[in-house]
Amino acid sequence: MADIQTLKEESRVFPPPADMMKHAAISGMEAYQALCDEAERDYEGFWARLARENLSWQTPFTKTLDESDAPFYKWFSDGKLNVSYNCLDRNLDNGNADKTAIIFEADGGEVTRLTYRELHGRVCQFANGLKSLGIRKGDRVVIYMPMSVEGVVAMQACARIGATHSVVFGGFSAKSLQERIVDAGAVAVITADEQVRGGKHLPLKAIVDDAFALGGCDAVRNVVVYQRTSGKINWQQGRDLWMHELAASQPSACEPEWVDAEHPLFILYTSGSTGTPKGVQHSSGGYLLWAMLTMKWTFDVKPSDVFWCTADIGWVTGHSYIAYGPLAAGCTEVVFEGVPTYPDAGRFWDMIARHKVSIFYTAPTAIRSLIKAADANPAVHPDRYDLSSLRLLGSVGEPINPEAWMWYYKNIGHEKCPIVDTFWQTETGGHMITPLPGATPMVPGSCTLPLPGIMAAIVDETGQDLPNGQGGILVVKRPWPSMIRTIWNDPARFRKSYFPEELGGKTYLAGDGAIRNKDTGYFTITGRIDDVLNVSGHRMGTMEIESALVAHPMVAEAAVVGKPDETTGESICAFVVLKRPRPEGDEARQIAKELRDWVGKEIGPIAKPKELRFGDNLPKTRSGKIMRRLLRVLAKGEEITQDISTLENPAILEQLKHAI
Ligand code: WTA
Repeated sequence: MADIQTLKEESRVFPPPADMMKHAAISGMEAYQALCDEAERDYEGFWARLARENLSWQTPFTKTLDESDAPFYKWFSDGKLNVSYNCLDRNLDNGNADKTAIIFEADGGEVTRLTYRELHGRVCQFANGLKSLGIRKGDRVVIYMPMSVEGVVAMQACARIGATHSVVFGGFSAKSLQERIVDAGAVAVITADEQVRGGKHLPLKAIVDDAFALGGCDAVRNVVVYQRTSGKINWQQGRDLWMHELAASQPSACEPEWVDAEHPLFILYTSGSTGTPKGVQHSSGGYLLWAMLTMKWTFDVKPSDVFWCTADIGWVTGHSYIAYGPLAAGCTEVVFEGVPTYPDAGRFWDMIARHKVSIFYTAPTAIRSLIKAADANPAVHPDRYDLSSLRLLGSVGEPINPEAWMWYYKNIGHEKCPIVDTFWQTETGGHMITPLPGATPMVPGSCTLPLPGIMAAIVDETGQDLPNGQGGILVVKRPWPSMIRTIWNDPARFRKSYFPEELGGKTYLAGDGAIRNKDTGYFTITGRIDDVLNVSGHRMGTMEIESALVAHPMVAEAAVVGKPDETTGESICAFVVLKRPRPEGDEARQIAKELRDWVGKEIGPIAKPKELRFGDNLPKTRSGKIMRRLLRVLAKGEEITQDISTLENPAILEQLKHAI
């Protein structure tokens, strides 16, 4: 939180476009304030009204919020519904049957379109296929798939039969996958033969096989394989099945399984500051309500919109704003298999032009890398493309620096599109703090104000409210429908991580620091206050990476810190002590490479440290505690000005100053 004090006040203000003001779902700040007031006045009534208006219930709920077992809050708990019914069947009934649900663009550029009727048929057939394997309500299914129509179908099919899915990002290693399969107790894994990204074929099924070889996946009865490339794979008779064969003979209707609103729709593993990744468990009713409502409020989605969220279904953004929200809102969405830089760095802009995308939602990292690319090569500059279809832009996953915001605003939005800088987390299920496109005056780098009903605040370590202008800890004071329900298999950790006793046990601790502007009350997120790094919008625990490093036979000790990075926001810097003498020169470079690859294998390529430094020891206090704040300073390449009188071994700092 050191940066809070040095944070520059951004004074540029951009009002929402007049036209958007006129037609937006929440039009003008008075309308926003009226909703906030309604929530203040009658919190439960506010959410009950929205849940009734926005979702189709098979059994209407009579209880809105149950706080009897706080912080294990329950929402709409005696109501029953089905998420897939709300996303698909409802659109068949309300005139969207022949509307395009998904425009899928493959890595190589092939485009496939599916209407809501077709998507519904595909989901029903596959749901029936899963049922034929004996998969039932409450069973866990791990999905390890590329960006594809089939990935969305797999998630929706699980929702349809009440199976709880756990999507694992396709970039995770066999070991990470195995840990998640075991922790979730999955009965099936859905994968693909290979994935295709940037023209390269990457194995998925082979990694699933490797995960099984690590042991412990005994609950898994079947591996269902989507045939993406027809690349060569190993096949285990009896266990492995082709997705298309499983679905082919099935009827294209499947009665949805009506589940309680609290039924776990999915588990999504995410990094925390300690230990192994946590299985964030989400509900069905409350989660879907917020995924859908934020489509309307934050993205102001209209029937004619073409919505494109560039996230991967392996992350929460891909859950809420690809697999569920856009479909529940009945819009047309783009699903993209590839990467922003293939065949060249104009890919996003070219796709926006070709598909007439009107709402575009991406991460600051992507924007920053595309700025660089456009500067280096005028042929991929966005001004070469027709971006006139755009009317709204979004940002997610990490702080967007004002320079990147301005570039996005000018070069992509042509100063006509509002930018919604959406702050939220895997745990929150959907947006929490964000401008509203037809109401909130925007300030670059600020996520502005909480959505109506979200009681965000800034407090000190004891839970006391802090005045505007004073940085502190970001909390949410009241439960909200799409919040995390528990950590799968670990309710005690849920309580400890998110509802600590120090804050009274009922206040949600986000894990981020924030500050509110003195005059406007606008929020600016100042970064994680725990040992979680955010690299290119991907969350990673420093402990996880350290554990991976020390698992290498050569490593005695390791400490990992984040370092500011122009493109990726933060990058990983690892300080390593080997069991043998400290290497130098070529040897150091070679060992560093080996350790990097090792981390790639242990966790996944996204966790590879960008930088490695070797020392005879790490800076420690006399009691043996690693002084991470010093490591952070060293990583940045800055001079140490802090008090190092408690440091046991000051000489070590000189060694650790230099990258190899
Ligand atoms: C960070 C991604 C600043 C934050 C949806 C949070 C942001 C973590 C923003 C959650 C934003 C996300 N501005 N920081 N607009 N959005 N973050 O779980 O540190 O992958 O705690 O969810 O990303 O990452 P997660």
